[in-house]
Amino acid sequence: MNNLEQTLSIIKPDAVERNLNEKIKDIFTKNNLKIKDSKKIQITKDEAAEFYKVHQSKPFYNDLCTYLSSGPIEVIILEGENAVIANRNLMGATDPKKAEDNTIRKLYGISIDKNSVHGSDSNENAKKEIKFFFKN
Ligand code: CMP
Repeated sequence: MNNLEQTLSIIKPDAVERNLNEKIKDIFTKNNLKIKDSKKIQITKDEAAEFYKVHQSKPFYNDLCTYLSSGPIEVIILEGENAVIANRNLMGATDPKKAEDNTIRKLYGISIDKNSVHGSDSNENAKKEIKFFFKN
C-alpha cells in the first residue's frame, strides 16, 4: 500500500429508511475499501450541528442538521488506498442529479438533501470526523 488512509462514511436517514445499508457497504468493499468499524446510531440535532459546523454560515445549515438527526444513520470507518478520494469517487457529486452513472448518489440519492451518503472531504477532516463518532 502506498497511501493507506481512513475516511468516514455516513449512510444517511433516507438510505437507512430504504434498507440500503448492505447494498451501499457492498459497493465500498467491492471497490477495495474495507469496513474497519461501523455502528447504527441516531444523533441529536445539537450533535448534527457540531458535526456539520463547517457549514454553519450556509443557508441550508439548519435543514441539514434537522435532517441528519431525523432518523437512524450508520457511521462507518473505511480504510484503503487513497480512501478519502476513493470514497468520494464512489459517492459521486453532492447533487444526485449531477452525479456520475453508477455512483452511490446517482443510484440511490433522492435530492441534494437526501443524498444517501456523506464522506469526508479531506484527510484532515477524515481524522476529525472519525474521532467525532469513534472516540476511542
Ligand atoms: P454532505 O456531503 O453530507 O455535506 C453537506 C451536505 O449539505 C451535503 O452532503 C448535502 O446533503 C447538503 N446540502 C444541502 N444543500 C446543499 C447545497 N446547496 N450545496 C451543498 N450541499 C448541500
